[in-house]
Amino acid sequence: MLQSLSVSQAHLPIGIFDSGVGGLSVAKCVQKLLPNEHIIYLADSLHAPYGSKPQDFIQQRVDTLAKQLIAKNIKALVIACNTATVNAIDELRKKVAIPVIGVEPAIKPAAARSKTKKVGILVTEATARNQRFLNLVKRFSSNIEVFIQPCPGLVELIEQGDIEQPKCDSLLRSFIQPLLEKDVDTLVLGCTHYPFLIDKIKNQVDQRLEIMETAEPVTRELQRQLAQRNLLA
Ligand code: DGL
Repeated sequence: MLQSLSVSQAHLPIGIFDSGVGGLSVAKCVQKLLPNEHIIYLADSLHAPYGSKPQDFIQQRVDTLAKQLIAKNIKALVIACNTATVNAIDELRKKVAIPVIGVEPAIKPAAARSKTKKVGILVTEATARNQRFLNLVKRFSSNIEVFIQPCPGLVELIEQGDIEQPKCDSLLRSFIQPLLEKDVDTLVLGCTHYPFLIDKIKNQVDQRLEIMETAEPVTRELQRQLAQRNLLA
């Protein structure tokens, strides 16, 4: 899987993948902020959702997808999936020579902005139980309370294009309501699928509740890593 790059390879594409359509929220931001870049997007829809799968399954899928994208001669790889990042990025980085950028939930900025000092985070089940993720939460929650809310079933609805069904609203309500009852004023979207539900989330919460996504910080990190290696198109 190893591939090394020289400075003349700035014209090569960037590989982006997710378990399904969720990573498109990241790809869209890359397209907007880095319009000269060429993107190859891979959606592992056959195996979605990752959130209900064990870690070794997720690691195998990440290895397979990375291999497929690296075979297309990419200059950098973006794991546009929180679940895949926390479960597999450390192992993958040991195996590949190109920059690998992952998605991490915006807990740090959320902690800085919250006035109630109570932050909610919506994640998949495989993220919620992951030690790397729990360590990240611990690192940034010394002066705030973080409420982790797993959201089983949401990714499936988004993948099936069923978000206009009443079931989607009631499922969302069952995940958000307990957080509002805890006086959370900042909500972190810890799964790249959830930005597709942002209007629905806004309909269920007070306007003052701040919703934090990660597409832009990930894109900035990608830009930084490419610039560092003289690989920006
Ligand atoms: N977009 C993935 C994430 O950010 C969804 C995981 C899944 O397939 O359950 O976590």
